[in-house]
Amino acid sequence: MSYTFVGLLGVFPDVGKHFRLPLNQAKKVLISTNDVPMIAIELLEARYNTVVNDINTKESLLAKVAGVNALFCSAKVKLDIDIINAAGAQLEMVGAMSAGLDNIDVEELKRRNIKISNTPGVLNAAVADIAVLLTLAAARRLREGRIHIENNTWTSNHKWMLGRDLKGSTVGIVGLGEIGQAIVKRLKGFEVSQFVYCGHREKLEGKELGAEFLTFDELLSQSDFVIASCPLTPETKEMFNETAFKKMKRTSVFVNIGRGGLVDQTGLIKALREDTIFAAGLDVMVPEPLSSDHELVKLPNCFLSPHLGTATYQTRSDMAKLTAQNIIAALSGEKLITPV
Ligand SMILES: *[C@@H]1O[C@H](CO)[C@@H](O)[C@H](O)[C@H]1NC(C)=O
Ligand SMILES: *[C@@H]1O[C@H](CO)[C@@H](O)[C@H](O)[C@H]1NC(C)=O
Repeated sequence: MSYTFVGLLGVFPDVGKHFRLPLNQAKKVLISTNDVPMIAIELLEARYNTVVNDINTKESLLAKVAGVNALFCSAKVKLDIDIINAAGAQLEMVGAMSAGLDNIDVEELKRRNIKISNTPGVLNAAVADIAVLLTLAAARRLREGRIHIENNTWTSNHKWMLGRDLKGSTVGIVGLGEIGQAIVKRLKGFEVSQFVYCGHREKLEGKELGAEFLTFDELLSQSDFVIASCPLTPETKEMFNETAFKKMKRTSVFVNIGRGGLVDQTGLIKALREDTIFAAGLDVMVPEPLSSDHELVKLPNCFLSPHLGTATYQTRSDMAKLTAQNIIAALSGEKLITPV
């Protein structure tokens, strides 16, 4: 008899799974903003009582978050203690549709044993592409050139509008995470002579990419291009300040695809205005959106893009899907795909 029983278990090892109802309307999920790709909404609506916060305000979020089991959190939402408290004790999961988590009180969520996921990996290529775009645009003075066309001051002169080469240069990556590595892989095609990086520790991936590990100060003074691709933390906040820009070469180009808060913008504006550095390319700034009369917008040697790092159809869709899949995993008691 026991032989038969064991045999049956062998045939149906996860018999419980097949009897679980796919639709678990008892669980409630809130999607924090109304601009999330449809794929995520479809995945969640098929399983849970899913509510989309259609008015993108904190008040609306506070009102709708009460009683939810999981929160799908867009990068635009500041998930603070007010929202965590308003949600209630049944909140078990926050799925962040971003790689960075500076908008989320991660410490408080962890303290309450609330699971967290983010979306690393799927956005690396798109963000790294923007880093390359900004690097070239700033180095080749694209913004200033465009202004000359608009101003009717286009001049044909061999010394006019000269930029900086990637070929033969030293490129410094501040934060050699997955995105930093993707940037190095892309820039290798531009005949860069040396890649250097800094961060918490020397990395195996750095060795594999042939990049040299330096201190922040060494990187600043040796690099022709300094690319910020690290997360915003209390430690990295405004690490690119006036002192840092003074340590950089006067011919250097600064690029930021991390977070605006990494930069002391007053220091950067001063450095760009006084030619302490050659140019900057920024996808992130403070505040976002930046107003058109901001000093950064006026500087001809500052190339700006309005936080477009992950803004491609495919990448946003992949991020939304991964966030939904993490929420489904959490609410099914399974391991998260990309836990924080
Ligand atoms: C373009 O024209 C404006 C208005 O005359 C001027 O302030 C600005 O310096 C010009 N920009 C360039 C790059 O020549
Ligand atoms: C820039 O940051 C460094 C490191 O935190 C600090 O030592 C330095 O005083 C800062 N400089 C300015 C001008 O704030």
